[in-house]
Amino acid sequence: MPQRVLVTAGASGIGREIARAFHEGGAAVFVCDVDTSGLAELERELPGVRTATCDIGNRADVRRMMVAGVASLAGLDVLVNNAGTAGPTAPVEQYDPEAWDTVMRVNLTGTFDVTRLAIPHLKRSDAGVIINMSSVAGRLGYANRSAYSASKWGLIGFTKTLAIELGEFGIRANAILPGAVAGPRIERVFEARAQASGQTVEQVKASAMANQSIKGLVDPRDIAALAVFLASDSAKAISGQILPIDNDRQQVS
Ligand SMILES: NC(=O)c1ccc[n+]([C@@H]2O[C@H](COP(=O)([O-])OP(=O)(O)OC[C@H]3O[C@@H](n4cnc5c(N)ncnc54)[C@H](O)[C@@H]3O)[C@@H](O)[C@H]2O)c1
Repeated sequence: MPQRVLVTAGASGIGREIARAFHEGGAAVFVCDVDTSGLAELERELPGVRTATCDIGNRADVRRMMVAGVASLAGLDVLVNNAGTAGPTAPVEQYDPEAWDTVMRVNLTGTFDVTRLAIPHLKRSDAGVIINMSSVAGRLGYANRSAYSASKWGLIGFTKTLAIELGEFGIRANAILPGAVAGPRIERVFEARAQASGQTVEQVKASAMANQSIKGLVDPRDIAALAVFLASDSAKAISGQILPIDNDRQQVS
């Protein structure tokens, strides 16, 4: 039987590449996202992939989406908690508390909501897998992005706890920690950082590369390949781990 895979926030970016990689590998894939037109485009591009509109920060949405996803896949083997929002770029004392709540609600609480509902189905799988998308900001501090960093560190604690709780059910939980990934999101991050620091975008990019052993942005297809590996039988002894894929980044900003 093909692996049954649910990917959150997969209409674009890293999630889309993850959905594509599992689909191309023969898995049955269900994708949710808040962007309905992006999902329609994905369904055209990857025939057979099923989708649902869902704001991961909305608990009722998540409940509806999980019912639809598990029904569509006739069960669940692999959950990829990819949804994450960046939040504003500002120092803590100027950080909008409402924005803090939104980042936590999507990145941390939303991941909890999806995972909580997925666990009974993963327990029925022969080899359940949970992959949480953290970030280099989940192992380092990140100036002016306190909510993002705190939420991504929170996901590490959540992942390690899931691994302990669920090991006896044959379910593995790991976190992927990407660094600066090629794509539109990182361009927005560089622009916001330039505005906050008074530097040019080019200066911000140069200093980002200065903090890496390998100079360059991460290819989202490599992150997707890591997710496919973590969900495979070859990774059957890997659980509770954090897997950076970040060109050996030593500082976030
Ligand atoms: N891109 C990077 O450089 C980078 C680095 C480290 C970690 N990450 C993490 O990887 C994940 C994916 O990042 P990305 O850069 O591909 O994201 P992105 O900004 O390109 O967005 C991907 C998708 O998320 C959807 N989305 C946003 N908020 C949502 C919500 N509340 N509910 C459902 N869908 C929502 C968007 O509609 C979009 O289709 C995130 O968790 C992010 O924090 C990204």
